[in-house]
Amino acid sequence: MSKRNRSNQNKKMNKNKKDVKIKTEKGSMMDEWPEPIVRVQSLAERNLSTLPDRYIKPASQRPTMTDDAPVATNIPIIDLEGLFSEDGSSDDVVMAKISEACREWGFFQVVNHGVRPELMDAARENWREFFHLPVNAKETYSNSPRTYEGYGSRLGVEKGAILDWSDYYYLHHLPPHLKDFNKWPSSPPTIREVIDEYGKEVVQLCERIMRVLSSNLGLKEDKFQEAFGGKNIGACLRVNYYPKCPRPELALGLSSHSDPGGMTILLPDDQVFGLQVRKDNTWITVKPHPHAFIVNIGDQIQILSNSTYKSVEHRVIVNSERERVSLAFFYNPKSDIPIQPLQELVSTHNPPLYPPMTFDQYRLFIRTQGPRGKSHVESHVSPR
Ligand code: OGA
Ligand code: NI
Repeated sequence: MSKRNRSNQNKKMNKNKKDVKIKTEKGSMMDEWPEPIVRVQSLAERNLSTLPDRYIKPASQRPTMTDDAPVATNIPIIDLEGLFSEDGSSDDVVMAKISEACREWGFFQVVNHGVRPELMDAARENWREFFHLPVNAKETYSNSPRTYEGYGSRLGVEKGAILDWSDYYYLHHLPPHLKDFNKWPSSPPTIREVIDEYGKEVVQLCERIMRVLSSNLGLKEDKFQEAFGGKNIGACLRVNYYPKCPRPELALGLSSHSDPGGMTILLPDDQVFGLQVRKDNTWITVKPHPHAFIVNIGDQIQILSNSTYKSVEHRVIVNSERERVSLAFFYNPKSDIPIQPLQELVSTHNPPLYPPMTFDQYRLFIRTQGPRGKSHVESHVSPR
């Protein structure tokens, strides 16, 4: 090797070293939580009569406790029966209802969705059992902000942040190389098998809804799926555990946020209300229909649709009487491909509202900042 070549090679190596160093420096912030983790379950078990300061929300964010009234205003409930006929035809009325719900609400409930009701109950009850294990039996699954996989009690790494009144568990279903049974709980003994089956059925439901979302915009059926990376999409599950709270009027189970991913399929608690959806300037408490799923549009679909479909803010309130368990299944684009408004939907009169960004980059925001309303998607706009 000539001197010059060698010196070029050294330069390259040094550059690589520098890159690696930057990565580790950046990474270190994400390796650990900024302060010791306190399990909300362990606070709830102490039967406190007051709420620790860390969970007291500023007055402007506290729930308004007039939430029994709006039961009449519920998010749309849509029967999917006519949608998945054997001959591949779809009911126009159902299609139109979904279209309106995605534009006006960003949220809807679905019944006759194809996932077996017994499987839904089994999934929720296995997770309830898991969360009822003593805290120390779950600490082996304790998560870190780098991947969020495992047992967690906060979102975001900002030191001193006001926290939400919930614990959770986060795991990957897809892509296959991220699905790691060792990172899933092993107790109760049926849980892995049940989650696995549940995930597969819910993915099928997501694939169908993706086709409807595409068709409803006049696109070919698999347009959204293709934009998500085809078969290489991501899917993960966050199970939320909201213990009883001594002062529910001062706290939130989950702060206002929009889901960063593509689409969310929520299995709410069948007994206890808690999810609130923002409609204009009021919070609507969702009344879950038996064995329905709650579907909502996430930021990535809002971006692909150039804001025709809305990713809507939602939050969770807690109560002092009953705990609550919910399963949020996130259907996401492949994490390293750029997501931007679909070409078919933009024109000179209707320019793209968002610049391209990968989901990996995009979700760093919620992973570091925690839930913050719709501020992320709203700040992620193309320069004008
Ligand atoms: C979520 C979420 C709602 C609920 O996990 O992103 O919005 O009812 N959950 O737990
Ligand atoms: Ni959410």
